[in-house]
Amino acid sequence: MNGIVDFQVPGSALCCRFHGRMDGVTSQQVDNEVFERVAAHKGDTVFDLSGASYVSSAFLRLCVRAARAITGKKIEIVGLNPSMKEVFDMTGLGRIFNLSLRGGEALSELDIEGHLKIVKGPGDFPTAKIDNAFGSATVSLHGAHVMEYCPKGQEPVLWMSQKSYFAPGKSIRGGIPVCWPWFGPCADDPKKPSHGFVRFRDWEFRRSEVTPEGGTRLVLGMASNDQTMELWPHRFDVELEVVVGHSLEVSLHVKNLDDKSFTFTGALHSYFAVGDIAKTTVTGLSGRRCHDKLTDKFSTWDGPVKFASETDMVFLDTEDVCVITDPVKRRRISVAKRGSRSSVVWNPWVDKSIRMPDFGDDEFHGMVCVETCNAEDDIVTVAPGAKHVLTTLISSETIVPG
Ligand code: BG6
Repeated sequence: MNGIVDFQVPGSALCCRFHGRMDGVTSQQVDNEVFERVAAHKGDTVFDLSGASYVSSAFLRLCVRAARAITGKKIEIVGLNPSMKEVFDMTGLGRIFNLSLRGGEALSELDIEGHLKIVKGPGDFPTAKIDNAFGSATVSLHGAHVMEYCPKGQEPVLWMSQKSYFAPGKSIRGGIPVCWPWFGPCADDPKKPSHGFVRFRDWEFRRSEVTPEGGTRLVLGMASNDQTMELWPHRFDVELEVVVGHSLEVSLHVKNLDDKSFTFTGALHSYFAVGDIAKTTVTGLSGRRCHDKLTDKFSTWDGPVKFASETDMVFLDTEDVCVITDPVKRRRISVAKRGSRSSVVWNPWVDKSIRMPDFGDDEFHGMVCVETCNAEDDIVTVAPGAKHVLTTLISSETIVPG
């Protein structure tokens, strides 16, 4: 990939995000534009190198030139890998700029007052805390993982395990894991990680804004690289868009950057908090084709889903809204969707909970997964240059007795 730059102004700071190899040619190509943008911007600047793979001496010259364009303002350089930091330090430029390694704290420059703050979250991963008039949400850049969602004045809607890992290379147990580019075990190679690889990799901050209705939009992204090509040999760009407004809207945008079509499965694997799983029901799936993964039998489902033992079911040919009715917490959670023709309902119950190291033995009582999927025969094909968007829309309402 050739080096390029894009510009965002998510808060008061100008964020210049560099991608690919910033070598002699590409650095010179963008040098003037960066200089002019930095000089014209009234506030501080962040150079984000988390999408860059290499920086040359021409890139260092670009930094010095930009630094000369500012007085009374500062430039912070974030997302460097250790060898890039060494280059800055060796040349003495490390002393001029405020440098921070990948996952850098200087991401706080990207805060939007009254809406979004970037903090160090669990596992020290950069984490976006969204809080606005509609509600609050927490999104880790590790896995682009929505960990919490709470509409204003209500209890938390998403469930998170007390035993979850928050560690590099491990996925978070709870919230909304992003499963992609395969759902469940990898069909070509069962040794590859379950539910794909994006849920335990670090994503990058792309942009954020206040929506016209006064909500908050956050977009994280990840592009293919040498490591992802080893696991899945296709060039892609994925973005996770999170909007906290009247509801929580989470969309996975998958773009094909290859010169041939690719196919994938995936899911927005939402974990919901419930008062008592034995009293909880899930409706909206009656009449749909159902694959019971525990018995490997197919049937046409009839009535609400109720829980009295381990449950692991894939519902097919459905675009309907699922409703979780929870008489203990006295609320109804609606899970609507777009770009999906399959839904999964999962609760591990006793034995499986005990087998899972990152899941408390008794925690199954208080959770249920209702997942918005592209699973089993709901396979997505994306042509070169085209995009698929998988969206889940989550809202909750109080059950008024009567
Ligand atoms: C569900 C699957 O989507 O995810 C289950 O249907 C699986 O079979 C569950 O056990 C959890 O998967 P993981 O990989 O997060 O433990």
